[in-house]
Amino acid sequence: LLLTAVLILRPLFEYFRDSRNLRRLPNASPISGITNLWFVFQAYKGQRYFALMEKHHNHPHGPRPVLRIAPNHVSFTDPQAIKDIHGHGTVMEKGVHYDLVCGTHRHLADVVDRSEHQRKRKVMAAAFAQSNIETYEHVLAKKMGHFLAQMDKLCAVRPKTGSRPPPEAPTMDYRRWAILYTQEAISALGFSEDLGFLEKGDDLTTAERADGTLYQARYRDAIEGGMHKAMVLIAFPEWYKALVAWACLLLPSFRNYKKRSQGFTDICRHITRKRIRRQANGEQLSDIFTALLHSRNGQPNNYPFGELFAEANVILNAGSDSTGIAMTNTIYSLIENPRALAILREELDEALGSTDVVAPYGKIKYCAYLRAVLDESMRMYAPSQFSLPRKTPPEGASIAGHWIAGDTQVTTPTHAIHMDPSIWGDPETFRPERWLGEEGKLLQRHFLVFTTGPRGCIGRNVTYLEQYVMLASFVKRYEFCLEDESFTPTRYETAATLIDKLPLKIWRR
Ligand code: HEM
Repeated sequence: LLLTAVLILRPLFEYFRDSRNLRRLPNASPISGITNLWFVFQAYKGQRYFALMEKHHNHPHGPRPVLRIAPNHVSFTDPQAIKDIHGHGTVMEKGVHYDLVCGTHRHLADVVDRSEHQRKRKVMAAAFAQSNIETYEHVLAKKMGHFLAQMDKLCAVRPKTGSRPPPEAPTMDYRRWAILYTQEAISALGFSEDLGFLEKGDDLTTAERADGTLYQARYRDAIEGGMHKAMVLIAFPEWYKALVAWACLLLPSFRNYKKRSQGFTDICRHITRKRIRRQANGEQLSDIFTALLHSRNGQPNNYPFGELFAEANVILNAGSDSTGIAMTNTIYSLIENPRALAILREELDEALGSTDVVAPYGKIKYCAYLRAVLDESMRMYAPSQFSLPRKTPPEGASIAGHWIAGDTQVTTPTHAIHMDPSIWGDPETFRPERWLGEEGKLLQRHFLVFTTGPRGCIGRNVTYLEQYVMLASFVKRYEFCLEDESFTPTRYETAATLIDKLPLKIWRR
């Protein structure tokens, strides 16, 4: 009886009471006004971004720019909603999800309080400014050198023009190597830590428990375990902690996610403690972590260890997988679109000299087509299609002309907006040209991959630098094709939309 009351009668009562006046909005599914189950089911399948896009654009009664996707959650694709929800001057705050997944100390991405966020963002801003990031180029160039040395070893013998290497030629998983590069890049830029992954061809690394005992864990496995763990149950915010506890008790898969995600926390702890020890031993290091320790003129920030550890966690997390995913999707897009690849090659051959192996950033930073390829690929396959929920203030707010009651979750679904025919015309077509010229500049306001406004991605300059150097160096040096021409990548949405693998044959041009 209690279960019936909690699971059925109360939601029905709330639905008809309609204290938030949300019944007037169209539903994503017939049950969306009553329960989160539709939403949870889509999250469980790892296809929520896709389902949401379908509901917004292919609704039986025509496109729906606003949809109720759960009893207390509304999704908007209207461009005005991007401004209202994320833009500078927004009255929205980060939603309840961020409270549920935070640790003992908040980091820049999960802090909700506005003034706390401003304080943290100010501290980090200098480290992430473009002028500062470009000074790190030599660090990335070294990593890219290691990456290319490994690629050279994995090359097939160059086949005749127009043909493919034979099946017995070596195969490389671009996804695996791309993330080894981004993991190494961010730990070097962020913490002056040389993980040596590219040279080893492996991401096994040291993790450290709170009591100081050490063990070995795999970086990617650990990071992705955490993303899986949070994804499905978070749709029930009021029961999240209890559900996680029960799921860990009853479901072996969940216990496994939990164990893996603990591995990531312990990797971050090891890197943070090591970096602090090096500072205490008098080493003069210049990296992103320096900005957390003191200001440019040497004023200490006096962050407690818990806060330094939390910030390290977000830098190592946000700074590695998303760029690896973006790079993998870009190579796949270019394989699927040989015309775009040919134009990009022409641009790079002109910009780079025959002796350039690692592409110098100075020579490629004005390559407009290179940038257009990256943006077009991230438009179609945003690394983070998770819709970054926000919460209306207690007094409510107007979003794209709809009055939404206080404490309601609101969302701008990235994939649905990136695939909106009324914005892009031909959203299913990979067409980098759309980003060129004045028209391309105007499209940036619909490009949500890093979101916008005060909570937009602080690492955007870092990822572009990494992506420019990696894509230009790879495309300039190698020809590539899918190992199996019929291969399509498997994508699974967690906090990021993970891509499983991308097996390629590559050979020197
Ligand atoms: C392709 C790569 C990347 C993508 C697609 C991406 C995407 C995003 C998105 C969508 C947000 C907003 C998150 C939210 O509202 O909850 C965000 C925030 C953030 N990103 Fe990135 N990111 C990327 C690379 C990076 C890198 C390389 C770093 C660090 C080196 C980084 C650090 C952060 C941080 C610290 C925040 C929180 C900012 C704040 O709330 O003030 N990201 N990113």
